Amino acid sequence: MTKIEFRNVYFRYHEDQNWIIEALNFTIEPGENVAIIGHNGSGKSTIAKLMMGLVYPQKGAIFVDGQRVTEDHIWEIRQKIGMVFQNPETQFVGTTVRDDVAFGLENRGVPRVEMVDRIKKSLIDVGMDDYTLHEPHHLSGGQKQRVAIAGVMATEPDIVILDEATSMLDPIGRQEIAKVISRIIKQRRMTTVSITHDVKEVMQADRVIILKGGELYQCLTPRQLLAGEYDWDYLGLTKPFVLSVKEEFEKYGYQFEHTPLNHEELIDALWTYYSKT
Ligand SMILES: Nc1ncnc2c1ncn2[C@@H]1O[C@H](COP(=O)(O)OP(=O)(O)O)[C@@H](O)[C@H]1O
Ligand SMILES: [Mg+2]
Repeated sequence: MTKIEFRNVYFRYHEDQNWIIEALNFTIEPGENVAIIGHNGSGKSTIAKLMMGLVYPQKGAIFVDGQRVTEDHIWEIRQKIGMVFQNPETQFVGTTVRDDVAFGLENRGVPRVEMVDRIKKSLIDVGMDDYTLHEPHHLSGGQKQRVAIAGVMATEPDIVILDEATSMLDPIGRQEIAKVISRIIKQRRMTTVSITHDVKEVMQADRVIILKGGELYQCLTPRQLLAGEYDWDYLGLTKPFVLSVKEEFEKYGYQFEHTPLNHEELIDALWTYYSKT
């Protein structure tokens, strides 16, 4: 059984609009980490809203864990999904960090004793356990996003959707949060959908879905993405650093057996080359 399936989905917000999502088909398998990329307005956030049942398709069907996303099942489905948005401000409800993380658990009827445990564990996971009684609004952007992530992780969702969850942060903060997220995801074996413009996050995914005007343009592995001739600007991504370095080396006659996916592979390739010459 697939975790998430879009079957020929059409969606628009208003009847006088063109289709925002058009004939969209894809599946995400249990435990997979899929990145969704595409330029602004290509329909990425709309897909996240469709998965959560915040909006419903006019044609086609969406399945989560084999269950069709309809108004009848929506509460059951939402229990399985945790979503982290771009702007943590909009996600706070509690007056303290602890209350805020507790909110999602109270909603799900988690017993008191277990709640205390989960809140503690999640705040430790994101490195915010020293801030339990702080007011969320007085935290920095990165700290707020950490608390928002703890709130989602505490509910122990099967599926996590990250909609540009790190895009408001500075590059260092972004890298830190991305590390926190990827560690938790691996530990807890969650199915993950990362909507992102961060090329490093894309390279960590198992698969990449490229959207173009609400349609699936391509579905490929990060390695295939790197090997292809893509217009990185158009995809809304910064060209990966390893790719620029590779191209510089090629100008001097260096030949790579395959495109390095990350710094480690780039360094390996260079070592292999120099030990041969
Ligand atoms: N609430 C809404 N009402 C009408 N149109 C919307 C609404 N939200 C988004 N759109 C339109 O839907 C398209 C896709 O938006 P969105 O899913 O937010 O794209 P992305 O997240 O890829 O930037 C855009 O053209 C946007 O203007
Ligand atoms: Mg968006």
